Amino acid sequence: MTDQNKITKQKVTDLFNLVSPGYDHPSLRLFPFSADAMVHFLHPDPGCKILDVATGTGAASVAAGKKIGNGRIQAIDLSESMIEKATLNVAKMALNNVDFHIMDAENPEFKSDYFDHVMCAFAIFFLPDMPAALKQWLRVLKPEGRLIFTSFTETAFQPMADIFRTQIATFGVKIETDAWQNLHSKQACEQLLADAGLENITVREKQMGYHLNDEAGWWGVVWNSGLRGYIEQLNPEQLEQFQQQHMDTIKNLVTDKGLWMDVNVLFSMGTKKLENNIGNTF
Ligand SMILES: C[S@@+](CC[C@H](N)C(=O)[O-])C[C@H]1O[C@@H](n2cnc3c(N)ncnc32)[C@H](O)[C@@H]1O
Repeated sequence: MTDQNKITKQKVTDLFNLVSPGYDHPSLRLFPFSADAMVHFLHPDPGCKILDVATGTGAASVAAGKKIGNGRIQAIDLSESMIEKATLNVAKMALNNVDFHIMDAENPEFKSDYFDHVMCAFAIFFLPDMPAALKQWLRVLKPEGRLIFTSFTETAFQPMADIFRTQIATFGVKIETDAWQNLHSKQACEQLLADAGLENITVREKQMGYHLNDEAGWWGVVWNSGLRGYIEQLNPEQLEQFQQQHMDTIKNLVTDKGLWMDVNVLFSMGTKKLENNIGNTF
C-alpha cells in the first residue's frame, strides 16, 4: 500500500470513529432503509455465508442476518468505534449469526471461494483503488456467487450539500470532492463490475429519500456523517457563525411537508463467473 493510501485510509477511519456515536441518528435512516433494499435485491438464501464489507454500525448485517437463519455473516470495518456500535445493534436484534472483525476492505483475510455473497453498502467509493478491492472481493466469493454494492447518484443530498460546501468554504475550509461522488453514475458502476469480470450485471436506481422535519434534521445529517470532517476544521466561534448562517439558508427549503432529502441510490450487482475460480484445478 502506498503512503498516500495509508493516509487516506487513516483519515477515513478517524472520521468514522468520530461520527460513530451519532451514526444511527434518525436523520440518517437512509442507511437501514437502503440496507433492507440491498438485501432484498441480493435475496440471500437461509444458511448462506456473506461478507459485509465496511459494515459501519451493521445495518446490512442486521438486514441480512434476519434472512439467513443458521448462515453466517463476516462483517468487517476499519473503524473500531463503528464495529462496537454494530456489535450492540446486532445483539439488540437478538441475532447470533454475525461476526465482526477490524479489517481493511481492500484486504479481506478469508479463504478463496468462501462466501456465497459479498455486499458493501456506501463504502466502495472511499477505497483508494476500487478495482483492486473488487478483485479481492471476487477472490473470496464462490463461483456463481453474487456481489452487490451501493453508491449515491449526483442528486443525492442536493441542494443542501452544495449549499453546505459553498458556505463552509467562506470560512477558509478547503473543499475536496466528497468520496460519495466518486461512483455516481450507472455507467461507471456497470463498467467497474464488467472490468472486474463479473457477469449478469444489473444496476438499479432507487429513490430512498425522505422528508426531514426541518433544518435541524439536516444538521443531524451534517454532524453525524462525512460532512463533519469539514466542520472539525472550524474553531468554536466560527462553528457558531457557520451553523447560524447555514440553518438560516436551509430553513428556506422547508415546506409544509418538511425538508426533502434526496437519497437516490444505485444498487449494483453481478455474479462471479465459473471460470474466475482460480482455485479450481479440474
Ligand atoms: C458511509 S459508512 C457506511 C456504513 C454501512 N455500510 C452502512 O451502509 O450503514 C462507510 C464505512 O466504511 C468504512 N470504511 C472506509 N474505508 C474502509 C476500508 N478501507 N476498510 C474497511 N472499512 C472502511 C468506514 O469506517 C465506515 O464505517
